[in-house]
Amino acid sequence: MDNKQITIGVIGAGTMGRGIAQIAAQNRHPVILCDANRDALESAKTFLQKILRRLEEKQRLNNDSAAAIFKRFTFTDDLNACKNSRIVIEAIVENLAIKKSLFRDLEAIVSKNCVLASNTSSLSIAAISAACQKPGRVLGTHFFNPAPLLPLVEIVPSITTNNKIVKLTRKLIDGWGKTTVLAKDTPGFIVNRVARPFYGEALRILEEGIADAATIDWAMKTIGGFRMGPFELMDLIGNDINFTVTQTVFEAFFYDPRYKPSVTQHRLVEAGFLGRKTGRGFYDYGEDAEMPAPNRDETLGRQIVDRIVAMLINEAADALFWNIASRDDIDLAMTKGVNYPKGLLKWADDIGLPAILQRLENLQSEYGEDRYRPSLLLKRMVKAGKKFY
Ligand code: NAI
Repeated sequence: MDNKQITIGVIGAGTMGRGIAQIAAQNRHPVILCDANRDALESAKTFLQKILRRLEEKQRLNNDSAAAIFKRFTFTDDLNACKNSRIVIEAIVENLAIKKSLFRDLEAIVSKNCVLASNTSSLSIAAISAACQKPGRVLGTHFFNPAPLLPLVEIVPSITTNNKIVKLTRKLIDGWGKTTVLAKDTPGFIVNRVARPFYGEALRILEEGIADAATIDWAMKTIGGFRMGPFELMDLIGNDINFTVTQTVFEAFFYDPRYKPSVTQHRLVEAGFLGRKTGRGFYDYGEDAEMPAPNRDETLGRQIVDRIVAMLINEAADALFWNIASRDDIDLAMTKGVNYPKGLLKWADDIGLPAILQRLENLQSEYGEDRYRPSLLLKRMVKAGKKFY
């Protein structure tokens, strides 16, 4: 499937669909970009034209021209246009019933060899594929926002996916210069599972009054080396979206306290403080508003980073323990999907596993909460004196 002539169907011309379509067209594929909403199609058209022109000006189109790339798109609201696609990537609204109905409709249109992929971030691939006569051809291809810029794509086979389909799809997307990782069809896949404590533990520290948002953000950036602080990032993602992801993961794990959503964030959502997009979230983005100054106390900052990073490492270790992905893929996912300064398992080795375990055990004994239970893998490795690498 590395033939550049194969047609790629993308359903949904919103934030993700248009980005995925752009990647495919820049890789010389004819692309059918289909959306039920004509306004969304028009907006995607204008957006793609503009972005390709900008890339051309910056000479970032690899001997291709914006006009030639743009000609590869067919914008349509007719699903039948996907008839000759070799793979269709779905990026429509995150709703299981609607996705299932789309997959059912698609199967009646495409050829028997066509791969059907979903960009879902929180639904199970098994549930989507259950709508199909041939569930073996269905898998998850989870791109990150903005898709043309972030290299990571999580490839998610379900229990029914044919192995050949996984290999073909991975080869195709690798050929687009993306970094693919293989993830089990479990809640949050890799990134949205392992990253939960980045937000959740920061929220706990805030709620307890240990530090304010500005101080936690400052510590995570300056001492932790993260590109953005948790509160800035939640405000950028949107507290509604971030809260929903946490809630979905929490429910999908049958209410494991480790993923418990925060009441503070819930209140922000209820108040309409969604973040940058509404002008107010954890921070005020109004014209006259001043960003609050952090408390630059190094000792406090170090404590904040140590606690959040230990929880992140615990989550990464547990993902490895449950075979959600390989060691290398877990580390790649966090560096290539959410720009972490280091892979978490590599980071664990650098800090030392006994120190991480100690931090978690201290938290667990202090709070008496299951939320802080160390992963069994971490315990076993410390006992055996092992490292991840
Ligand atoms: P969006 O709301 O920007 O775009 C969705 C588009 O799908 C809209 O243009 C809508 O008109 C269209 N649509 C809805 N139902 C349709 C149907 N039945 N047939 C054809 N078109 C239909 O959504 P966004 O953010 O692009 O998300 C799409 C998918 O990607 C979701 O599954 C989401 O969970 C996932 N995702 C989103 C990320 C993000 O950061 N926005 C990141 C990774 C995955």
